[in-house]
Amino acid sequence: MRVVVCRELGPLDGVVVEDRDEPVPGPGQVLVDVKAAGVNYVDGLICQGRYQLKPPVPFVPGGEIAGVVRAVGEGVDGVRPGERVLAMTGFGAFAESVVLPALAVVAVPATLSFAQAAGFVQSYCTAWFTLARRAQVAEGECVLVLGAGGGVGLASVDVAVALGARVVAAASSKEKLALATAMGAGAVVDYETQDLKVTAREVSGGGVDVVVDPVGGRHSEPALRALGPFGRFCVLGFASGPIASVPLNQVLLNNRTVIGVDWGAWAMRNGAENRAMLGDLLAMAGAGRLHPAEPAARPLGDAAAVMTELLDRRIAGKVVLVP
Ligand SMILES: NC(=O)c1ccc[n+]([C@@H]2O[C@H](COP(=O)([O-])OP(=O)(O)OC[C@H]3O[C@@H](n4cnc5c(N)ncnc54)[C@H](OP(=O)(O)O)[C@@H]3O)[C@@H](O)[C@H]2O)c1
Repeated sequence: MRVVVCRELGPLDGVVVEDRDEPVPGPGQVLVDVKAAGVNYVDGLICQGRYQLKPPVPFVPGGEIAGVVRAVGEGVDGVRPGERVLAMTGFGAFAESVVLPALAVVAVPATLSFAQAAGFVQSYCTAWFTLARRAQVAEGECVLVLGAGGGVGLASVDVAVALGARVVAAASSKEKLALATAMGAGAVVDYETQDLKVTAREVSGGGVDVVVDPVGGRHSEPALRALGPFGRFCVLGFASGPIASVPLNQVLLNNRTVIGVDWGAWAMRNGAENRAMLGDLLAMAGAGRLHPAEPAARPLGDAAAVMTELLDRRIAGKVVLVP
């Protein structure tokens, strides 16, 4: 079978496609034919050696898949061949097939395509954990989402709308803002050409209640300043590179709160709770209350190119690799 291999941590041109033997499921495991593998910003960082987690090389990158169970190992009775499933794989997703613990796979609702399902877990769990659990967004509140045309950003728009919030989407291009509008954002800010603080305060009617910030850098401070009384600023990541330093008087003013969000670490320590949360989110998607956008599909051989484009900010929405 064909797999994507990162031979060395460093430039992404060291990521290549190789042939490997088919894996065989052992006791308690399942073999899944991958129909789509979600590409996340973090995959490129890991392959470049710029992430806190540095796997031994060579390794197969990719953290989430959707596909069809081909075979099950001894002692597996909850999962059957032919089932449509998705899973977080840790590593190993950019491959034609993967072997996983049976407990790691989750049934995919019939309403989701393989591509939608493959891009769902990381973006939607992060968005829900941020908005519902950490910021506890209430109906009628106003949420400002930075990087709103990216994976986590677009999911945050969808989740905020599902929670009954009004959304102001901020992004760098017409294409990304159009995606956020289609997802339900009521107002948009192009933070490359408009003043983020002034515009967000204007369109929200005086100040937003919650900021979702997976971008960091120069956008964080104006977003913090756009918060109204008792506003909550959620720190998710630093896709733009620099980690912003903000003046603490801006937290004191208006009784604001800064909230750290680390869904990945929480999910690892709270497996059962995370699984229940994912089940609820998939049920919401199955019932049409969440609307993951259909990702663009690219071949497995484009893995390095897609990770490069993501890191270069050239992708609107999500991309999956289709083996
Ligand atoms: N805290 C958590 O639990 C958690 C969980 C998952 C992901 N994350 C983090 O969230 C961030 C976003 O992840 P994602 O999967 O949504 O990524 P993504 O799809 O690539 O979106 C990131 C967005 O950041 C913006 N951006 C601004 N400057 C950028 C630059 N120099 N390079 C790249 N992007 C830039 C881009 O939007 P514009 O062009 O519109 O500015 C882009 O759409 C990452 O830092 C990731 O590590 C955090």
